[in-house]
Amino acid sequence: MTARKKLFLKTYGCQMNVYDSERMAESLKDYDQTDRADEADLILLNTCHIREKAVEKVYSELGRLRDLKDAKPDLKIGVAGCVAQAEGAEIMRRQPLVDLVVGPQSYHRLPELEARARGGEKALDTDFPEEDKFDHLRRRPKAARGPTAFLTVQEGCDKFCAFCVVPYTRGAEVSRPAERVLEEARDLVERGVRDITLLGQNVNAYHGAGPDGDWSLARLIRELARIDGLARLRFTTSHPNDMGDDLIAAFGEEPKLMPYLHLPVQSGSDRILKRMNRGHTAEQYLRLIERIRAARPDVLMSGDFIAGFPEETEEDVRATLDLIEAVNYGFAYTFKYSPRPGTPAAERAQVPEAEMDDRLHRIQALIARQQRAVQDAMVGRDVNVLFEKPGRFPGQMVGRSEHLHAVHVTAEGLEPGVVRHVRITASVTNSLSGELRG
Ligand code: SAH
Ligand code: SF4
Ligand code: F3S
Repeated sequence: MTARKKLFLKTYGCQMNVYDSERMAESLKDYDQTDRADEADLILLNTCHIREKAVEKVYSELGRLRDLKDAKPDLKIGVAGCVAQAEGAEIMRRQPLVDLVVGPQSYHRLPELEARARGGEKALDTDFPEEDKFDHLRRRPKAARGPTAFLTVQEGCDKFCAFCVVPYTRGAEVSRPAERVLEEARDLVERGVRDITLLGQNVNAYHGAGPDGDWSLARLIRELARIDGLARLRFTTSHPNDMGDDLIAAFGEEPKLMPYLHLPVQSGSDRILKRMNRGHTAEQYLRLIERIRAARPDVLMSGDFIAGFPEETEEDVRATLDLIEAVNYGFAYTFKYSPRPGTPAAERAQVPEAEMDDRLHRIQALIARQQRAVQDAMVGRDVNVLFEKPGRFPGQMVGRSEHLHAVHVTAEGLEPGVVRHVRITASVTNSLSGELRG
């Protein structure tokens, strides 16, 4: 028997990268994961290209690995994820200590690439192959795991927003067949998972092959909800234009679908939305949220905003602040616009840095106020909490409410994976605390 080797895997970027990292680690069957880079036989960086200086950050991280490689010539270093896709062979040219480069659509070839790298070759694969990588990645072992999991059901994007690299790094929209998703979900539930978040760059555009024609995301959710032992379903990230009637209805009809929706809009100004190529107006977005709230009044909205998109004016920023006021977000994320090479917006007149900072702070301040008010309003209410892990204090457990608020409870006998009724007693900076109710 060959001695087991150690893998150090560092993940950047979105939840899809977190999921991919898990699958990659499982596919390297001679390896156990370690959280110490200095004892690794293989170091993999799973990278993100979405914003600022992503490429430079990867090169400086790689530069820091030089001493480890000098001390252990057998150490292999690999780059995966969206920077691997965008840079390809350039990575090995610029940083010769890299042995392996693998793009997001080629992870099923990782074991073979690893063997080639071990044999002294430079191994590279950034193809967009026809086959579904997840069908070819080794099945997850039947090991027990925590109560929450991500499950990628859709990948890639055909929308080409003017600021975004995802269509280039992840390729065209592809949905996994429904039966594959159901199988994987059943397997996760057998291993202790109670809460699954379905992932996709445009997850609500899901249209995977089912036994009776293509299934929508709503249909997939309805079928997943029939799995005994699965308590909760969520999905992210959605595009406003793909929010189908059946998916909206599911919020009111499917008790396992949680009342939480991440629905990025990026800007509240129609002029900017048009320049971003988002394909909808601010009014259409607001009407959509009205319909979602009509189906399920307590849906907590979450979103993404970009501050300082090229040619954005003060008037546009006010329109964004107005939209935020109108929605009342429970969570939302604001990013400073970052010109990405090869995207149309990178060629346009950029907003000065100081302006961008100012706008970012104003948008973030408004969102922080809303977020806090939404959270504070939970005090005194009874909510269902799915417990995930022990807290910092003895006897304390941390879980999530249906609305995704972190909730701390100190009580005897609480196990990860259990759902209990909790009376919320206090709201602190980023979480709630409460007491068990029966
Ligand atoms: N598919 C999702 C989002 C994917 S990227 C959607 O359409 O909403 C996640 C978030 O990163 C985006 O919602 C956007 O707010 C932000 N983002 C993407 N490209 C960016 C860029 N060039 N500069 C700043 N923020 C960006
Ligand atoms: Fe990027 Fe737009 Fe596609 Fe989202 S919908 S991944 S922002 S191009
Ligand atoms: Fe980043 Fe790629 Fe995800 S660019 S946000 S890791 S899809």
